[in-house]
Amino acid sequence: MLAQPQPRDDLLVTSNFIRAVRESGYLSIATALAELVDNSLQADAKTVSITVGRNTTNSLPDITIEDDGAGMSKAGLELCLRFGGSSRFDARQSFGRFGMGLPAASLSQARRVEVTAWQNNGPEHTVALDVDAIVAGSAPMLIAQPGSRRAGTSGCRVRWMQCDRIEYRRLAWLERSLRHDLGRMFRRFIVGGLNMTINGTRVEAIDPTLLTTKVEGASARLAFDEMKYELETTGGGTSVVTVRFAVLPVEVWHRLDNVTKRRMGIVGGGGVSILRAGREIASGWHLMGGKRKENYDDWWRCEIEFDPSLDEHFGITINKQGIRPSTQLREALEPELESIGRLLNARVRQAFDDVKFQAAAQASCRIAAAADPDLPVIDSRGRSGAIQYRLGSDALPIEVMFQSTLAQRTLDLTLNSDHPAFAALYQPLQAIEGGAAAELRTSIELLLLSFARSAVQLELAGQPFDALVRVWGSNYGRMLQKS
Ligand SMILES: Nc1ncnc2c1ncn2[C@@H]1O[C@H](COP(=O)(O)OP(=O)(O)OP(=O)(O)O)[C@@H](O)[C@H]1O
Ligand SMILES: [Mg+2]
Repeated sequence: MLAQPQPRDDLLVTSNFIRAVRESGYLSIATALAELVDNSLQADAKTVSITVGRNTTNSLPDITIEDDGAGMSKAGLELCLRFGGSSRFDARQSFGRFGMGLPAASLSQARRVEVTAWQNNGPEHTVALDVDAIVAGSAPMLIAQPGSRRAGTSGCRVRWMQCDRIEYRRLAWLERSLRHDLGRMFRRFIVGGLNMTINGTRVEAIDPTLLTTKVEGASARLAFDEMKYELETTGGGTSVVTVRFAVLPVEVWHRLDNVTKRRMGIVGGGGVSILRAGREIASGWHLMGGKRKENYDDWWRCEIEFDPSLDEHFGITINKQGIRPSTQLREALEPELESIGRLLNARVRQAFDDVKFQAAAQASCRIAAAADPDLPVIDSRGRSGAIQYRLGSDALPIEVMFQSTLAQRTLDLTLNSDHPAFAALYQPLQAIEGGAAAELRTSIELLLLSFARSAVQLELAGQPFDALVRVWGSNYGRMLQKS
């Protein structure tokens, strides 16, 4: 007689589950490793040491992460590798809430994971999960086994052994990419004093807003005061989403070569960075409504921060990477963020136009300065040396064609980009390539520079012709509007 299968009430078919859970969808090794760093930080660790090496038997990578946090009791340790095992299930104070991060992230990368913890200077204990052993029918090693070593007051060490999902052929490449990704994800904590190392070398904070990155004497700056949006939490209270926009200094950094631009993250680092409890969980093009990303958008940055009590609004899943915003969140943020995105795009475009303008105008300014010693001397505040020239553009009141000032022997001429003459004379010239256009442009600029110099010259001699400049600008503007 055939044996009847016994009815069982186990929820899981362990040998299949352990293989299926390996596909829990972590986007990269760094996002999986971030789960372990989250746990270390939540255990109040001040030091997180990551070691990347090779397994001696099969040469697959092995990764160890050790912290000096609170460690775990034997009972806590026996819970930590169980799916759903958590000391903070559904908590919202910090990163952890699902009781899935440690086992799911570990098995997404490694065939075997060992967790060792120690407390109160006592001996360490270890638990482990081994995919191959479990598939072959062995029980997981979830009863804590005592070890002999005492590593310090308290702490925790997680070993990922036989990492068979890592695509980097060289460990150095893996290390470099981890250094970059973790430096960016945990930037707030590193700046706040966390000592994170990979193979003994500190991981530096990488700030995509570039607010604190100083290159050639310039950094990005905040475009506006930070904005706050209050939203209802599922717990019945409210919580605030903070949004910050930064613009990069186009006028200085446009000169950098492409390799430097890429290394600094000017190119390839753009978009919106989303921080949950201070840790980056997504970066890309988020909450920008109908606006598509263009090249100019590399030159401004957006940082959005929220608290885990708003997880439902951001659509946080168990692997804590990426967001799926709720309708309410989109309605609250998107219209404003989209219009700011468009505004900053226009600002960056203007800044690049200014840079182009400046580069061309420098030639005329040099010619004017070279001619200056042959012109009638301008005596201001007892100084009478040759004058330097600077030509720029800005939005001024509509009837003014240009404005000029003399300070410290430099004549600063600002063309009004809102005056009809700018569109009629300048923009067509800027659009034409070639020597003839450049010469014509220089002639027009010299006409304006000489006019401005004459104005200053006469004014200092007590013969103001301010009024003429104004009336002329206004009349010329009207004529051009009719042309
Ligand atoms: N480095 C560590 N130091 C101390 N305790 C830890 C450490 N890592 C994990 N733990 C303990 O193990 C438990 C399980 O960790 P796990 O990451 O799986 O879940 P979680 O952090 O509670 O929730 P989540 O799935 O949201 O990360 C934690 O609740 C915590 O008690
Ligand atoms: Mg966790």
